[in-house]
Amino acid sequence: MNRIAILGPGSIGQLLCWQLRHHKPVLLGRSPAPDALVHTDIKDEHHSFTPEYRPLDKARLDDIGLLIVTVKAYQVLDAITPLLQDLPADCAILLMHNGMGPHLDLAPLLNGRSLLLGTTSQGALKQGLWHIRHTGKGLTQIGLLCGDADSGKTRVEPLLDKIENSEWVDDILAALWQKLAVNAAINPLTAIHDCRNGALAANEYRGHIHAIVAELVKAAAADSIVLDETTLLERVYKVIELTANNFSSMHQDIAHGRQTEIDAINGFVVKRAQANGLEAPANLSMLEQVKSLQPRR
Ligand code: PAF
Repeated sequence: MNRIAILGPGSIGQLLCWQLRHHKPVLLGRSPAPDALVHTDIKDEHHSFTPEYRPLDKARLDDIGLLIVTVKAYQVLDAITPLLQDLPADCAILLMHNGMGPHLDLAPLLNGRSLLLGTTSQGALKQGLWHIRHTGKGLTQIGLLCGDADSGKTRVEPLLDKIENSEWVDDILAALWQKLAVNAAINPLTAIHDCRNGALAANEYRGHIHAIVAELVKAAAADSIVLDETTLLERVYKVIELTANNFSSMHQDIAHGRQTEIDAINGFVVKRAQANGLEAPANLSMLEQVKSLQPRR
């Protein structure tokens, strides 16, 4: 049987598990098995269900047809590599994390398995170890990076079917670069200046935001991804307006002394620019400043 497994039971992992509950997903993790997952929906109604939970150290994986990976970008390789020998040869893998980058290292290790990438702006907040609150129904996009398009799409159909406001995209890398622009502009500036997203609408941040986005457009172009700078800036300012009262995820990571996703956000822009002989000083400055604020690994 082709089961769906979710690796990384954080807030998005638990939300997807709830949304896929009729498909009997398997949750893979290191914590003791949950008695139940509690889900508080947008209307503030509570629901619960008990997923099949498999502790990672002794999990059987031979029945998994789709592995959805919801760990942070910097955990992806370490989380998946030990599982590869036990996953079926035709198991598709879907990465759903903020930022970009792990796909470049992972794709060559997959022995022909399909690799799908996804991005979600759904909001979910942890209320307890196994309790999440669904806070937003933002867009979810999924597409194929490599492997067989038809079977890749078939494997993620349950997700597209169960997640409101979700879509299949043919050019997932372009979609991810577009989302990256939003995170590259908002996340580090809010972390460095210790402010809510809405504060970035002030004039003093315009120069930084424009430089970050302009460099990102050039880095993407060097990777053959064509983006429109004006449209991206509009999108960044729209998100600033719509999420004005929120503290970005990077702001929260810094505030709680946690590692951030900066390497997969501005760090990825710098890496792709440099790989193509370009410089990205505004993104490099964000990378260095956020690194100086986060705990050393
Ligand atoms: O990472 C985040 O916090 C979010 O992706 C966004 C869009 C920047 C809003 O806070």
